[in-house]
Formats: sequence, C-alpha cells, structure tokens
Amino acid sequence: MLDPFGREINYMRISVTDRCNLRCVYCMPLEGVQLRPREEYLTFEEIERVVRAGLALGIDRIRITGGEPTVRPGLVEFIARIKEAGVRDISMTTNGILFPKMAADLKRAGLNRVNISLDTLRPERFKAIARLFDDPQVVLDAVEAALELELHPVKLNMVVMRGWNDDEIVEMARMTLDRPIHLRYIEVMPFSEAYPFSEEVLVPAAEIRQRLMAEFGDLEPLKEGVPGNGPARYWRIPGAKGTVGFISAMTECFCAGCNRIRLSADGKINPCLGHIHEYDLKPVLRDPSATEEDLIRAIEAAILRKPREHNFDDPNGEYTLRVMHGIGG
Ligand code: GTP
Ligand code: 5AD
Ligand code: SF4
Repeated sequence: MLDPFGREINYMRISVTDRCNLRCVYCMPLEGVQLRPREEYLTFEEIERVVRAGLALGIDRIRITGGEPTVRPGLVEFIARIKEAGVRDISMTTNGILFPKMAADLKRAGLNRVNISLDTLRPERFKAIARLFDDPQVVLDAVEAALELELHPVKLNMVVMRGWNDDEIVEMARMTLDRPIHLRYIEVMPFSEAYPFSEEVLVPAAEIRQRLMAEFGDLEPLKEGVPGNGPARYWRIPGAKGTVGFISAMTECFCAGCNRIRLSADGKINPCLGHIHEYDLKPVLRDPSATEEDLIRAIEAAILRKPREHNFDDPNGEYTLRVMHGIGG
C-alpha cells in the first residue's frame, strides 16, 4: 500500500527479540538491560498473524532482526511458516555468532539471504566494540557458511566510527575483491547508547568513498544496485566480485525512497526509525473478538501515520531515546 507521501510500503523488519549475545557500543547498554515479562513479547504464532495481515497489504518482503534473532528458540520453524504463507523475500540481519550452526536449517526453512554485522577484523577491537566477545573469526565463519549455502547476496554491515575502526575501511573493502561479498559502510546513527558520542565519531559516506578511491582508483556506481530492500547505495572497486555500499542516513538522507515499517518484539509497529511513535498491535492480536481484517486495518493505520523523514539533525529529537536493540535497526 501507499503511505501518505506516495511511497510504496512493501517491506517489514521484524524484531523477534530484544535480547542479544553482544553489547555493541552503538546499540545496547553493557548493563542494566531490562527483561520484560514474557507475555509482553509476541509469540511466533502472533508474529505470523501480523505477517499474513501484512501480506494482504502488499508487504511481501520480511527481514528478521533483533536484538540478535538467532538467540530466540523456534526461529527456524517460524521462517518455514512465513515462507509457506507466501512471503517472497525472507532475509535476516545477524551478528553471525550462532549463525554457522543454524545456517543450513535456516536455508532449508526458506531463508533467502543474510546480512552479517562485522565492524572490525581485529580481536581486541572486536572486544572493545561488541564487549562480550572477541573473535571476528567466528563471524568470518558465518560469512563462509552464508556463501557456501548461496544465501546471496551476502552482505556485511560495518558501522564506521572515527578512532575506533575507520582505519580498517580499506582493509575491509579488500574482502569484496575476490568474493561476492557486499560490504556496507554504515554511518552511525545517534540513538540512545550512541547518542552521546555519535557526532564525534561519525564518518560521512563521502569521506569513506574518497578514502577508497585514494586506494583503489575510481569506484564504479552500480545503477542496478544489489538485490535488497534497504537504503544502501552501491559501488564496485574495478574488477571486484563484490561491491561496497553506503548507508548514509546522516549525510545523504534516503527517506524519500522509504518502503518499510518495523515490528518490535513486543508487538508495536514503528513506521519510522527516526521517530519513536509506535502503534501497539497487541490489543488487536489478543482480543478474541477481533478479526484478521481488524489486524490489517491496525497495520494500515500505522502506515498512514508514517512521517516524511527522520529528524536526526534536531538535537532534541525524540529519536535520541530510541533503543536500537529493541527495534532491530
Ligand atoms: P537489504 O537492503 O534488504 O539487504 O536490507 P537492509 O540494508 O535494509 O538491512 P540491514 O538490517 O542490514 O540494515 C543495515 C543498516 O541500515 C542498519 O544500520 C539499519 O539501521 C539501517 N537502516 C535500514 N533501514 C533504515 C531506515 O529506514 N532508516 C534508517 N535511518 N536506517 C535504516
Ligand atoms: N547506527 C547505525 N547502525 C546501527 N546498527 C545498530 N545500531 C546502530 C546505530 N546506532 C546496525 C548494526 C546492524 C544493523 C541491524 O544495525 O550494526 O548491522
Ligand atoms: Fe524511512 Fe524513517 Fe528510515 Fe527515513 S528514517 S528511511 S522515513 S524509516
């Protein structure tokens, strides 16, 4: 369906849990994460009903996020069920730690592709950023597993932070030279944990492109892009098998092309990452007299309230309250 600004909404990002086995500095506090009572979270059966209602509105691309989606038991069966329901493109964003063990089952269930977070190749830095783990090799194993199972296009997410990992921009790009890996450089967004330091660590996408061009020569823009539903824009290092992409919400706003809504693990539709307004589906999902049509109307109502764009340049914006692990990026 179309939102109030004429944008076709066909992509839902579903956070299946707000828990995570890491504590990345830009996403989640190290301590004091509140666990909510179990009944506040949707069951997979309830999420499936939301997916089916979304399908009726033309939302046939689903991305599973978290927290870290692989920590929630029952994920494989859930993916099989929404595949059966008719979802065209099922993808997942993961930190990769548990992924190698689950990859084959996920593929069999119907997962089409995967995006894997990897901010650094250096163990001591990995520990500084992700805090609970220090072995990037495990994440590289996840990338291998994804390539072997042909979960194409296999994408990597690197949140670039000045002074933390920006000196690895070139080294990371080398991974795209001889493998079909699509590395996306992500500008850090100023949500809760990241808010206090995001301005000083932000590396604009234009600067990253310059640094890549200084090393590899001109980058070729990929007009047709790389298959996917998100905001990345892609270039290729001449002769490379993979690509480099940029997700530059801070310096190159992409809201005009927005096609997505988000469902949180506790059942709320958030029509825009840059605003904290959300619309709780639980009352409809848990009202025994409510019909599927009621659920469809509730999702539609949230889409009709989708804002035009984020307001990340307003230092008092309520987005600073957003907790990334609760909405899945
Ligand atoms: P595909 O293009 O389908 O592969 O997915 P994606 O790039 O949308 O998914 P992924 O979960 O890998 O997201 C990568 C980064 O893009 C994360 O940092 C997200 O927070 C960011 N992102 C995705 N959608 C939006 C959006 O609507 N607005 C903003 N500001 N950032 C987004
Ligand atoms: N800014 C930009 N990207 C973020 N992610 C998590 N928090 C932030 C943030 N503050 C990214 C993760 C993951 C994706 C889902 O969102 O690195 O790859
Ligand atoms: Fe869409 Fe909001 Fe993201 Fe902009 S910030 S691309 S409007 S979800």
